[in-house]
Amino acid sequence: MLRPVLQYPDPRLARVSEPVAEVDDEIRALAQDMLDTLTSVGGVGIAAPQIGVHRRVVIIDVSQENDAPDHPQDFKVFINPVITVLDPAGHEELEGCLSVPDLRAKVKRPRRVALDALDLDGKPVHIEGEGYYGACMQHETDHLDGKLFIDHISYLKRSLYDKKMKKKR
Ligand code: NI
Repeated sequence: MLRPVLQYPDPRLARVSEPVAEVDDEIRALAQDMLDTLTSVGGVGIAAPQIGVHRRVVIIDVSQENDAPDHPQDFKVFINPVITVLDPAGHEELEGCLSVPDLRAKVKRPRRVALDALDLDGKPVHIEGEGYYGACMQHETDHLDGKLFIDHISYLKRSLYDKKMKKKR
């Protein structure tokens, strides 16, 4: 089922999400709604709070691991994801977000990370990645802590964006 994607500055995007105690039908239905919504609007990832559900569930296009052009998207669900930094060296990628309209900006994050989570069967899964893929893992997991990529950009860029959004409303 398609769900509306919350747009900044909706305060629900700043709320911390609850861990999933059990991977049950309710969580599988949530994951399906997230997948339907993501494939409809287009993108490489989505987090549950973006559709207003504050549970620790994200979807990431894992085909990015191959970093090959024109690879078909391959969406995987990650429940209770935890990020571990494997290489803390700062690395910049151009990021955007379904919940942050009309803005893409360079964000500096640790270069290489691992993500540990549960899959839809409740089994542990582990992925690792760097560059844009690694940034995507960190970006989606950030959503579960109420953080957006614009929380990582300079004060100046952020104020300009806030001003522009205020005008738009
Ligand atoms: Ni996002």
